[in-house]
Amino acid sequence: MYKESTGRPPHIGVHGHRRLTKSSRATTIVGLDIGTTKTCAVVATSTAAGLDIIGVGEAPCAGLRKGVITDLEETVRSIEAATEKAERMAGVHISHVYVGVTGEHVQSTNNRGVVAISGDDREVVRGDVKRVVEASKLIDVGADRQIIHALPRHFTVDGHDGVTDPIGMSGARLEVDTHIITGGNTFITNVLKCVHRAGLEPAGVVFEPLASSAATLLAEEKHVGVVLLDIGGGTTDVAVYASGGAIHTSTIPVGGNILTNDIALGLKTTFSEAESVKRTLACAMPDDGGAEFTVKTLDGRTSQPVTRAQLRSIVAPRLLEIFRMAKTQLDRLPRDVILAEVVLTGGGAHLAGIERAAADFFGMPARIGVPTSIGGLTDAVKQPEFATAVGLVLFGPKGDGAIWHNGRSKTFFGKVTGWFGDLWN
Ligand SMILES: Nc1ncnc2c1ncn2[C@@H]1O[C@H](COP(=O)(O)OP(=O)(O)OP(=O)(O)O)[C@@H](O)[C@H]1O
Ligand SMILES: [Mg+2]
Repeated sequence: MYKESTGRPPHIGVHGHRRLTKSSRATTIVGLDIGTTKTCAVVATSTAAGLDIIGVGEAPCAGLRKGVITDLEETVRSIEAATEKAERMAGVHISHVYVGVTGEHVQSTNNRGVVAISGDDREVVRGDVKRVVEASKLIDVGADRQIIHALPRHFTVDGHDGVTDPIGMSGARLEVDTHIITGGNTFITNVLKCVHRAGLEPAGVVFEPLASSAATLLAEEKHVGVVLLDIGGGTTDVAVYASGGAIHTSTIPVGGNILTNDIALGLKTTFSEAESVKRTLACAMPDDGGAEFTVKTLDGRTSQPVTRAQLRSIVAPRLLEIFRMAKTQLDRLPRDVILAEVVLTGGGAHLAGIERAAADFFGMPARIGVPTSIGGLTDAVKQPEFATAVGLVLFGPKGDGAIWHNGRSKTFFGKVTGWFGDLWN
């Protein structure tokens, strides 16, 4: 399966995680974020003290549109380039990766499962928790879709709700409220096919906003009520948390690249010139930067003067449109859900003035989310565009929650490899 020519360190892998050396007893966990603009691989070691990042690799990616793969070869090339860089930095061979997926095909809903507590002593054991979560997954998702996650929000034991960990509690009836995330089989299979062709094995699939949230949101924020917007190149991922759990997740098929397109069209210049103007001069709010600058014309031979106000009049309305699409989703949440903060992440969160624009628009405090709660090469990844990749190593091994991850994960991949395994080889 592995290419001979990569010059990668010798393969010492075991399934999912890998031992680095006999003495360190550490295992590696790898997150692979295949984005619309870049692929990013993050290698972390898991030790008794926590997670440490030991390698990061990034490579441009032009194989996706709106989070969905449109060019397999280009995507494979990008995965290979990113993982090889990460391998060189970490000094380990990457075999298994937690893969991020996103796109409009991913949908979410909330559901409830109920089971009788089975043991003679009527005490909730892990098996009951697993059974009740499985019961909550009994929904008709259609033949062309798969459940990616069933995230328990809270449990109810004999009518007492709000239980976060029911194991050991006594009762006769166990209920769970879960956040269920489903994805289109073909879209996920294409992602996994690229991963496979790049010589890697998927250790798990994670819906990207869950990963970004794991890297950037605090437990307190998730408890009080928070909305995360991961503004990438081609998508804006949305995750809403309340009472500690995810209650809504989705993807808007528009990201920061549309701002660049608008600038290119509005100022009649190239995409790369527009991208550079956006990064260095654009601001979502009125600012006191210099009033005028010049932009190269399409043929690159002449320049034209542009005012900051003119640039803002292109960028700000489009940003507000992205916010409006997110707000439409928030307006559909149950009335008792109160949100206290907006956290902005993804590369689009670099746009100058975006925090104030978001705070004004949503009417609540806004902050930029950068990866936290991880050690090692933190400076290298302390940027909003690394939230998903870092979050994959944090969230990936937990899956739907450590206790039932293995069973569910096997079911998911068992099915996918069963249907499409021959395509990968
Ligand atoms: N300084 C900046 N100001 C404004 N936008 C920026 C800046 N830096 C990066 N961006 C934008 O961030 C976007 C890329 O973000 P990111 O790397 O999170 O996307 P991605 O993960 O590749 O894409 P997606 O998540 O949509 O699949 C691009 O649109 C880029 O123009
Ligand atoms: Mg992204």
